[in-house]
Amino acid sequence: MSEPVFNRVLITGANGLLGQHLVQLMGRMPEYDVLATGRDRMPRFSGGSCGYTQLDITDPAAIERIFADFAPDVVVNCAAMTQVDQCESERETCWQVNATAVETLARNCLTTGAKLVQISTDFVFDGTDGPYREDARPNPVSYYGRSKLAGENHARGAGTEAWAIIRTVLVFGAAENLNRGNFVTWVNDNLEQGKQIRVVTDQWRTPTYVVDLASAVERLIRFRKRGTFHVSGRDFLSINEFAHLIANTLELDESLILPADGTTFSQPAQRPPKTGFIVLKAETELGYHPHHTADAIKDMMRRTKALRTQA
Ligand SMILES: NC(=O)c1ccc[n+]([C@@H]2O[C@H](COP(=O)([O-])OP(=O)(O)OC[C@H]3O[C@@H](n4cnc5c(N)ncnc54)[C@H](OP(=O)(O)O)[C@@H]3O)[C@@H](O)[C@H]2O)c1
Repeated sequence: MSEPVFNRVLITGANGLLGQHLVQLMGRMPEYDVLATGRDRMPRFSGGSCGYTQLDITDPAAIERIFADFAPDVVVNCAAMTQVDQCESERETCWQVNATAVETLARNCLTTGAKLVQISTDFVFDGTDGPYREDARPNPVSYYGRSKLAGENHARGAGTEAWAIIRTVLVFGAAENLNRGNFVTWVNDNLEQGKQIRVVTDQWRTPTYVVDLASAVERLIRFRKRGTFHVSGRDFLSINEFAHLIANTLELDESLILPADGTTFSQPAQRPPKTGFIVLKAETELGYHPHHTADAIKDMMRRTKALRTQA
């Protein structure tokens, strides 16, 4: 009989949206020994059966200590500076977190033989001809996109057999005490309060439910895959259509959603117009089956209500 697979998994950015979901998912699976890490001294989430340690990924000495103490088999890097406009104005910090820190993680993986799973983004593409396959040519139009592309390139430094990149798109989901909201919550909260919102009609995405994304990451680890995978929902929608779908699904007043042209917003960072992913590779190699977007929205709001009651 073959030995059970037992993986020591280090998760960075565990207080973020994906990080929390991954900790909840993998923390309860007996084949994994999970160490969750985040910038805060204490975890921002409750429950979960795993350890937690404070870790700022821009601190190379702290990373070395974690590798020495915990000896991970796999590192999943969910930590990132994700606010696209802030990345444009705080370029040095953005580069340190999204690029240089990945180089440090990859170097430690290379020397210890650990695998690195780097989470990346559709913003590595220019958005001229989405939805994209994994082999499409990146050409970022924002500083965030450039820093994440550099992060991808650094991740490969973990070693030929030891790196994997999961790119994802417009992630939504419920989690505890997040530092930033997400699109579904924003649409729901505004419409519930009877407020009008302007939402772009000329940007297209394949929105991703975080529960599906976390499941894809776990499958990638379980099936010992390497290389690049595109992981998102299957529904290709303009962001305005996505807002209407949210309103419809949650039975909110759609007339409060006003159409807007991306050029009417004065945002520091340029957004790629048409991204979104073709997820055939993830479906074939990982057995990835994402929720339909409407079902994901319902599930997310059920979880959001449960978390708000619990708080
Ligand atoms: N959200 C999306 O729409 C989206 C779309 C495409 C790709 N992605 C990618 O998906 C991944 C996960 O993002 P997410 O949605 O979970 O975003 P998130 O909720 O913003 O989580 C990112 C986490 O990284 C942490 N972090 C930032 N700097 C750090 C540092 N120096 N050391 C340690 N942790 C640090 C943040 O800490 P604090 O909580 O303390 O701020 C946060 O908890 C990222 O790689 C992102 O680029 C996200």
